[in-house]
Amino acid sequence: MSTPPYLKFAGPVLDEATIAGVADVLRSGWITSGPWVQAFEKSLSEFCGGRPVKALTSATAAVEVALQLAGIGPGDEVITCAQSFFTVLNMIVKVGATPVFVDCDLVTRNIDLGAVEAAITERTKAIMPTHWPGSLVDMDALWALARGHGLRVIEDAALVIGSQWRNRNIGTQGDLVTFSFHPNKNMTTIEGGALVVNDAIEAKRVDALRFHGIEYLPDRTRDVAVAAGKFNMPDVNARIGVAQLARLPEFLATRRALAERYFECFATEPACVLPPRPVPGDGQTWNMFSVLMPLSRMRITRREFRDALEARGIGTGVSYEALHLCTLGRRYGYKEGDLPVTERIAAETVTLPLHAAMSVADVDRVCASVGEVIAGARR
Ligand SMILES: Cc1ncc(COP(=O)(O)O)c(C=O)c1O
Repeated sequence: MSTPPYLKFAGPVLDEATIAGVADVLRSGWITSGPWVQAFEKSLSEFCGGRPVKALTSATAAVEVALQLAGIGPGDEVITCAQSFFTVLNMIVKVGATPVFVDCDLVTRNIDLGAVEAAITERTKAIMPTHWPGSLVDMDALWALARGHGLRVIEDAALVIGSQWRNRNIGTQGDLVTFSFHPNKNMTTIEGGALVVNDAIEAKRVDALRFHGIEYLPDRTRDVAVAAGKFNMPDVNARIGVAQLARLPEFLATRRALAERYFECFATEPACVLPPRPVPGDGQTWNMFSVLMPLSRMRITRREFRDALEARGIGTGVSYEALHLCTLGRRYGYKEGDLPVTERIAAETVTLPLHAAMSVADVDRVCASVGEVIAGARR
């Protein structure tokens, strides 16, 4: 019997037309930010209901620029979810502000808005929630809370481009919104990200903040008033982004069908905690399928569980470690037990393969392997 090919837990779909388009850009004589970035930003803006969107080199850059744009720095606090990627912690610390972590919901994994409200102090400047695949943060409640306290909102939408809140794409409403185009996301530009802002004044400030802080003077010299990084997206990447955005609905439909199949398969494995099951018209997208394994009922550790799947040619991930308990997070005084739901997820979560290059048969293969490993490891 031939061995089935290795199944990555995430990855992009790149077609020949896109590859040919990139070759054209490489031959064009203009490879850094230029006409393709403008075209990509225009398409992204249309996707976000006409709001200004700026392309950057990553979502991490977009979060850093968003924090700078909101004027957040030393002495300020940003309330965020500890069940997220390192970006949120790192960028808050990098701009000199203090991360304030709150817990999340066990099933949706979204930030606990009651805990956010309780954590607001006179130093709080912003709330930075991460939207989870399969379920967005309750935007009505979030915006009401932010407005009531005069706070900025930076939505980390890295995982959910294409998801909808009340039938409108994420990014069309709200304050500052960041997307990721890393190859593991719903669409890719190799590395890349975007920042949705409120108006032309903010958009112009992002132009400076993503390019050394440079402002152009009437005498054709340049000035810098704010120390800024260099995060402008090259045209090569934007060319990929234009093609990927056009195919996004198709990618999302495939992802949704795969998620549906996981729910069918996991119906016989009730000991796992699953994400919320999709219902028709819910407007959710499926960047990943992360489940909590019933480790307390198994004789093996998560490491051994993941190794067993790896041995069967199936890649997995951990989404995510608890940010408040990593070495940098602990420097802000956090310890075990502070955020019990986040910590349980961090200990038990396994991200199973889900990407637009997969088939339903691949999901069946993953589920059969998961079933075998659990059955062999039950206490
Ligand atoms: C939730 C979340 N936010 C932000 C990021 C950062 O994205 P990027 O790699 O584009 O900087 C990631 C990356 O995995 C992520 O998972």
